[in-house]
Amino acid sequence: MSKPTYYITTPIYYPSDNLHIGHSYTTVAADAEARYRRLKGYDVMFLTGTDEHGLKIQRKAEAKGVTPQQYVDEIVAGIKELWKIMNISNDRFIRTTDDYHVAAVQKIFKQLYDQGDIYKSSYEGWYCTPCESFWTETQLKDGKCPDCGRPVENAKEESYFFRLSKYQDRLIEYIESHPDFIQPVSRKNEMLNNFLRPGLEDLCVSRTTFDWGIPVTFDDKHVVYVWVDALSNYITAMGYGSDDESDYKKYWPAQVHLVGKEIVRFHTIIWPAILMALDLPLPEQVYGHGWLLIDGGKMSKSVGNVVDPVQLVDMYGADAIRYFLLREVPFGSDGQFTHEALINRINADLANDLGNLVSRTVSMQIKYFGGKMPAKEDRLDCGPVDDIKALTSGNLEKVNELMDALQFPTALTEIWKGISRMNKYIDETAPWVLAKSEDPDDKKRLAGVMYTLLEGLRIASILIEPFMPETPKKIQAQLGLTGKDDILKWENAGEWGLYPDSAEVSKGEVLFPRIDIK
Ligand code: ME8
Ligand code: MG
Repeated sequence: MSKPTYYITTPIYYPSDNLHIGHSYTTVAADAEARYRRLKGYDVMFLTGTDEHGLKIQRKAEAKGVTPQQYVDEIVAGIKELWKIMNISNDRFIRTTDDYHVAAVQKIFKQLYDQGDIYKSSYEGWYCTPCESFWTETQLKDGKCPDCGRPVENAKEESYFFRLSKYQDRLIEYIESHPDFIQPVSRKNEMLNNFLRPGLEDLCVSRTTFDWGIPVTFDDKHVVYVWVDALSNYITAMGYGSDDESDYKKYWPAQVHLVGKEIVRFHTIIWPAILMALDLPLPEQVYGHGWLLIDGGKMSKSVGNVVDPVQLVDMYGADAIRYFLLREVPFGSDGQFTHEALINRINADLANDLGNLVSRTVSMQIKYFGGKMPAKEDRLDCGPVDDIKALTSGNLEKVNELMDALQFPTALTEIWKGISRMNKYIDETAPWVLAKSEDPDDKKRLAGVMYTLLEGLRIASILIEPFMPETPKKIQAQLGLTGKDDILKWENAGEWGLYPDSAEVSKGEVLFPRIDIK
């Protein structure tokens, strides 16, 4: 039997500037989910890439005195490097300047024109270049872009239009009858109440005032509107519209498009309408997460409050940054990014709770048993072992449910309950007292305590794998489990009692050095 497929996407990023830590948020979340699904046995397709056309990029290139292609090539190289540094496990990377994508978009545009879903007219209205979005006079907020608050430009030009209005009723019907399609639910209500129910207008889908875009094949002074170009990536990356559509057939429809909240509108109105027009199935879900804020505002290059992820990873390591991003803020809500919060998380959760637990456990095992786990007949259960079992192996189902629902922070909270409980267990059982006792049963109890801790850590090391690609291997090496893959599979995190009698721990480097706040 073939494995079930799981297709997850991030938005494709504008290579208009280097990416900041806010951008990494979407990608890190998608990566954790992709890793989790692989561990669960899915055939995962994890797609990311870059959205390279449009007026914004053309202007950036002009300002720098290079061609748009030269401009994006350099930034895209940096983006790929960033994902490598952050251990992003994407299966593919699409660039909208790739030939196969350009050809497929041209084909899609032509088909929609031929069937009457695209027609020629002229546009008059407003355009927000940073968002690459069209607005009507009444949609503006104080004369500015209602999404980003920046100035808009007047646009008046001949253009092609997509009959978005024609799909309004079908979209409303679809969204209402598929409650999981737009998540979280607040974003669904926003789409219905603010955009769909008031009525959709046809969408301008070509531009003539600049040329950095995909040419319309049958009218070459037009380039395809960058959002139509960009959204199509989710199917063109799978070969849709090419000679080989086998991956498209295998993976589409996607299980989830993970996106920031400001682009939910494009993904839940424009994109499904295009798919409906093409008579293709819709993605199962669009999940709109919140923003990382700095001083209450969205982190963005034009505001000048960006935090460089390369620098952060350099200072604290990829696992620590990934942990912080996925742990700190309820998924779906906005949250503040501060260096202080980052350092507090690293010190409290990683250096203290997890790092100390590993190093104390390993040191004690070496001190009391020469590093080697005593045989079962030489161990006695000691202290509230059932509590530890419940919060480690007993927690797998809960972690699964939360990961299925993209609830990363609560999944981590559950995992950390087990870690905290083990720390408390050390204080409760006081192994250093048992070690001094003359009673031979106390020696067995001491072995039981060590077993409970090492077994709990085996389980924790598995559960953190989706979030932290580097740390689990380091922990498993210290626990003496390197290569013992038959007890380190995801489902083995739900079984208690797999730590082998003969396993031998060894002291390793400090997992997360404490950071001095200053
Ligand atoms: O929107 N906090 O690209 P993009 C959280 N090219 N997420 C943030 C963020 C922040 N401060 N800043 C950005 C585009 N993001 C289009 C997408 S898809 C067919 C085309 C997230 O580079 C943002 O919400 O502006 C989005 O999900 C992603 O970074 C890419 O943003
Ligand atoms: Mg943006």
